[in-house]
Amino acid sequence: MSEPKKILIFDTTLRDGEQSPGASMTIEEKLRIAHQLEKMNVDVMEAGFPIASEGDFEAVKKIAQTIKGPQIAGLSRANDKDIDRAWEALKYAGDRGRIHTFIATSDIHMKHKLKMTEDEVVETAVKAVKRAAGYTPNVEFSAEDAVRTRLPFLARIVEAVIDAGATTVNIPDTVGYTMPNEYYDIIRYLKENVPNIERAVISVHCHNDLGLSVANSLAAIRAGAGQVECTVNGIGERAGNCSLEEVVMGLKTRQDIMPYKTDVVTEHIYATSRLLTTITGIVVQPNKAIVGANAFAHEAGIHQHGVLMEKSTYEIMTPESIGLNQNKLVLGKHSGRHAFIQRLESLGYDLSKEDIEKAFVRFKALADVKKEIFDEDLDAIVADEIIRV
Ligand code: KIV
Ligand code: ZN
Repeated sequence: MSEPKKILIFDTTLRDGEQSPGASMTIEEKLRIAHQLEKMNVDVMEAGFPIASEGDFEAVKKIAQTIKGPQIAGLSRANDKDIDRAWEALKYAGDRGRIHTFIATSDIHMKHKLKMTEDEVVETAVKAVKRAAGYTPNVEFSAEDAVRTRLPFLARIVEAVIDAGATTVNIPDTVGYTMPNEYYDIIRYLKENVPNIERAVISVHCHNDLGLSVANSLAAIRAGAGQVECTVNGIGERAGNCSLEEVVMGLKTRQDIMPYKTDVVTEHIYATSRLLTTITGIVVQPNKAIVGANAFAHEAGIHQHGVLMEKSTYEIMTPESIGLNQNKLVLGKHSGRHAFIQRLESLGYDLSKEDIEKAFVRFKALADVKKEIFDEDLDAIVADEIIRV
């Protein structure tokens, strides 16, 4: 079998994810998530929308200054002011800084929102990409509402922005409307009808309004997309975005029929999911794939019997592969620092020595009055004592 094709993971938890109601984060909180995404080894993290607010500008700047591995993207509308502001924050990442500029391309958006013609939209997009390319060769263009865009027009604008310098072209399903076979056909159409398409990476960005964001992203990969945009726990506008853990584990688990891979260190998935929940307060439904509380729980006797005999009878991936250690040591008053620190790390906490000491003292005091200390108790201790970077 040939070497699996690498799919780039573009995480937008800190931008599109943050747009979900109740998910807004402080600069420090965004930085903590960014560190976790760095550990997880995503290829690109979209840190925010610098023109949107002073706070978001500072968060993108701080992330660009601090995070070392992944590329750092910042969103901008297709105008000079947004693009200049985005680069002002992103320039600290050097050649890992990516300007992500977008404009809507569907008739419905052009008519009612932009009040622009097709020619005007192409002209604006090309101008924006050229301006961004003046700052960095790492430019992504998104055709907002691409899925409801007339295909020949979509092909025309994609060709024009690639000529103008876009190195990634994103084809978003902004409203979560498409179906896997339709999305597959759209990506194929672009592959076959845009003469310069091979000069850019095709990216996909799916919303989950019909619960199909992961299925659509997988279909697009099969059609030739090279980058998937996604968020931790699938948070995002309305019904959310394509969930990072689902698409990554889908590719990892079914490499037998999908010859693709990612560089995500999947053992950090669970801690990242928990950290996001702790920070935003947005809980994960118990039956959520991969990271839900029941994702690896077996209730029915027949299933319990099966997994006791041989795990693969009812488990298609191991809990350890997402960093969920089911053989956790019980934490109580006899537990030492080592087990305590290990558990904190598995919950996504990356604390200084001084903070660990403070938390450890609190833990011991609690353990004196409580038989067993649960993860929720540790969350409360950390939230009370520390919660800062
Ligand atoms: O959903 C969408 O179209 C977006 C773009 C800005 C990429 O989030
Ligand atoms: Zn989106």
